[in-house]
Amino acid sequence: MTDDRDPSATAADGFPPGPGGHDPEVLRQRALDALLTARARTATLTDCVDDGELTAQHSPLMSPLVWDLAHIGNQEEQWLLRAVGGREALRPEMDGLYDAFEHPRATRPSLPLMAPAEARAYASDVRGRALDILEGTPLHEGGRPLERAGFAFGMIAQHEQQHDETMLITHQLRTGPVALTAPAPPAPTDADTLPAEVLIPGGPFTMGTSTEPWALDNERPAHRREVAAFHLDTSPVTCGAYRRFIEDGGYTDPRWWRPEGWDMVREHDLTAPLFWHREEGQWLRRRFGVTEPVPDDEPVLHVSWYEADAYARWAGRRLPTEAEWEKAARHDPATGRSLRYPWGDTDPTPEQANLGQRHLRPARTGAYPAGRAPSGAGQLIGDVWEWTSSDFLPYPGFVAFPYREYSDVFFGPGHKVLRGGSFAVDQVACRGTFRNWDLPVRRQIFSGFRTARGA
Ligand code: AVJ
Ligand code: FE
Repeated sequence: MTDDRDPSATAADGFPPGPGGHDPEVLRQRALDALLTARARTATLTDCVDDGELTAQHSPLMSPLVWDLAHIGNQEEQWLLRAVGGREALRPEMDGLYDAFEHPRATRPSLPLMAPAEARAYASDVRGRALDILEGTPLHEGGRPLERAGFAFGMIAQHEQQHDETMLITHQLRTGPVALTAPAPPAPTDADTLPAEVLIPGGPFTMGTSTEPWALDNERPAHRREVAAFHLDTSPVTCGAYRRFIEDGGYTDPRWWRPEGWDMVREHDLTAPLFWHREEGQWLRRRFGVTEPVPDDEPVLHVSWYEADAYARWAGRRLPTEAEWEKAARHDPATGRSLRYPWGDTDPTPEQANLGQRHLRPARTGAYPAGRAPSGAGQLIGDVWEWTSSDFLPYPGFVAFPYREYSDVFFGPGHKVLRGGSFAVDQVACRGTFRNWDLPVRRQIFSGFRTARGA
């Protein structure tokens, strides 16, 4: 039976890894599309402001946009030109400047960074050479691990999209005239009849993946996990629900908070999510330069793990563990196997999930009925990153690949796992198995949450 499958077998997750499986020519085309999509997004995010804004530091939490731009090019040079293509370094003196570990974000504006025109030219020069290498590299199963199934190309497309999300965070922190706009996401279809929570029956499921070609090291390998029965919110916690926590004195009552969270509240006088403020008895928020009333039926955004954890305790509930989240999102009781996405094994469509910065906000509760999981839970993929109660830890059998600084150095109790992706991340960097992580105090990220309780 399914429960006895060998989790290390190739078919452990039991699904075809995307349209075309591991066909090298299909993957070559997918890699090309993913790289071009990422670069178009990078251009949108960096062409909409002037050079002064590109080199300015909009928040000590973030790099100047021009640092992200050149760092995107530099990572692509290191992995696609040098590691895969065997080429010499184009600008060896630049590696240190764009090494995220050598220079903390707050210090990056004072570095002798490439100017905007130079950074653009560098990234585009690297890209031209990378596309030549993509054309000439065999991507077959027996090849080098970096090249097999186009992994390095997929990894670099994901890296650029991750920085595109980072740059969108910088845009959200930036003040001044509006630079980015987008249409509203689709409206809810059945919000009134959606149950508040769904029941996920107990039993084992397959967590992680061994077959998804571009899954990053921390998503591997697939393994069986026992998860006891639990109830999970059908949708992420809304601004309206979160407002009731605020109005019930949530931010002034230490009972709801972890000690470190309570310290954070008092030190920074927190009273609401980041970007919210109160004016004449009404809650308003700033979103990409526009101030608007806080919408009650939209998932709450820009809360730290401590705030999510406190809300859940106030509500008599708790955050889901990472394994609970993934089981709710991927386990298909009809077949006993795990799906790539809540709706099945096919890549996300605009009807299934709010991804890729098509909309610059999460959709309201009850949107994306086509994206729901067999459990009935909705909006798991896209909209808002969801905090889980879990620390970021390696799966049994984890092997760092291709570099320790992607995941390995972040494992441990300091970082909490977020799942599901946000409206700001592209589908190439979002899957049912994808793991994100951050410090529990972080709130400038596109983070929300849903709550759970034991059954
Ligand atoms: C996985 C989103 C936490 O942005 O710090 C980008 C991704 N790693 N460049 C980050 C990443 C290296 C990473 N997160
Ligand atoms: Fe990076």
